[in-house]
Amino acid sequence: MPDSLDEIFQRAKQGRALFQNRDALSPDYVPEKLPFRENQIRQVAQILAPALHGSKPSNLLLYGKTGTGKTAVARLVVERLQAQDASKQIVTCYVNTRISSTEYRTLAKIAESLPLPEDKKIPGTGLSIGTVLDRIFTSISTTKAHLILVLDEIDYLVSAYGDDVLYQFTRAGEEVKPGFFTIVGISNDLKFKDELDPRVLSSLGEEELVFPPYTTEELRAILTAREKIAFKPGVVPSAVLNLCAAMAGSEHGDARRAVDLLRVAGEIAEREGIHEVTEDCIRKASERVESNRVEDALRSLPIQNKLVLLTASKFSNGTNTGDLYLAYEGLARRFGIDALTQRRVSGILAELDLLGLLEAAVVSKGRRGRTKRIRLLIHTGTLSKVMAEDSQLLGLL
Ligand SMILES: Nc1ncnc2c1ncn2[C@@H]1O[C@H](COP(=O)(O)OP(=O)(O)OP(=O)(O)O)[C@@H](O)[C@H]1O
Ligand SMILES: [Mg+2]
Repeated sequence: MPDSLDEIFQRAKQGRALFQNRDALSPDYVPEKLPFRENQIRQVAQILAPALHGSKPSNLLLYGKTGTGKTAVARLVVERLQAQDASKQIVTCYVNTRISSTEYRTLAKIAESLPLPEDKKIPGTGLSIGTVLDRIFTSISTTKAHLILVLDEIDYLVSAYGDDVLYQFTRAGEEVKPGFFTIVGISNDLKFKDELDPRVLSSLGEEELVFPPYTTEELRAILTAREKIAFKPGVVPSAVLNLCAAMAGSEHGDARRAVDLLRVAGEIAEREGIHEVTEDCIRKASERVESNRVEDALRSLPIQNKLVLLTASKFSNGTNTGDLYLAYEGLARRFGIDALTQRRVSGILAELDLLGLLEAAVVSKGRRGRTKRIRLLIHTGTLSKVMAEDSQLLGLL
């Protein structure tokens, strides 16, 4: 039997006292200061500064693992640049191509930041990509705009749609005169450069900047500063912040993970009606954040990878490549999906292993050669939950 309503509300009332500004821990919050990124901030600022006297800055690519401050630095510099612009010619636009998700919506978002005449505005759907690009370029040219365009998580756009639109952008210099635009591309996937046409790469990567992971010590300082804004004094003991930093730094120094852990831990403490955030809250938060990470990874898998994973989940004590393949073929047939060759399935197993969703360890079978021992590493409950969201798999689950 759950707690009585009064108890739940009573705890919530007490718990709310833990936070003084919960938004400071939300994913969209950009802190005023970004310690340990002074160099990156200065370099990005130096590269973009020519826009202030009407010259086109170089295009720029920002790289680095997740949670290393790329988005925060780009947003901060672009905001400050715009604030310094007395001529009011600088137009800034920030688009996350993973969130805008389609090529069309990405372009529509860019168009929104420009002053397009009423009859040239971009409708929700219906225009060709070429027409939308034309309107964007014409607007930059006629308004003499100096556009600073931040394309965050640019790898999503490229892997889903190729680099055609980027190619058009890098070629549009003459067309947009006397206006200009500069692209700041951001990615945490270094491989995405391999998917770019060399001409696009050389233009987009005129300047490149790499963001290193934070050290645990740096994460601790970042958390301490954020904790002061977000929580009431004395609510988060320093040992708890240390644990949080250590856990967020265990793979690579990921500030996003650190901030997420702290927020979720605060929410857990609130729900439990306790007066401070404890180490136990951080551990519970870690489990929750980790399971969100797994769910996100599962959601973005291609259908065949999902099928292989589902097959592996049928063997509660693990299995080997041969037996897994037979079961996979059977399952594919039931779902009405064409089965891949054993070789391709081996490739998928290696990818799933890399993502930490299952373990595919090579074992020797003596004279009979080698096989792989396959073992699921995630809860079957999580797997079924996410798989049930997939319409292709839903019917049979
Ligand atoms: N130097 C810093 N000081 C304070 N907060 C920081 C710093 N660097 C990052 N953060 C915070 O950590 C979180 C993640 O940072 P950010 O979104 O910039 O990472 P990212 O490099 O863009 O990661 P991803 O590649 O996953 O998008 C944000 O909440 C941000 O405010
Ligand atoms: Mg980012």
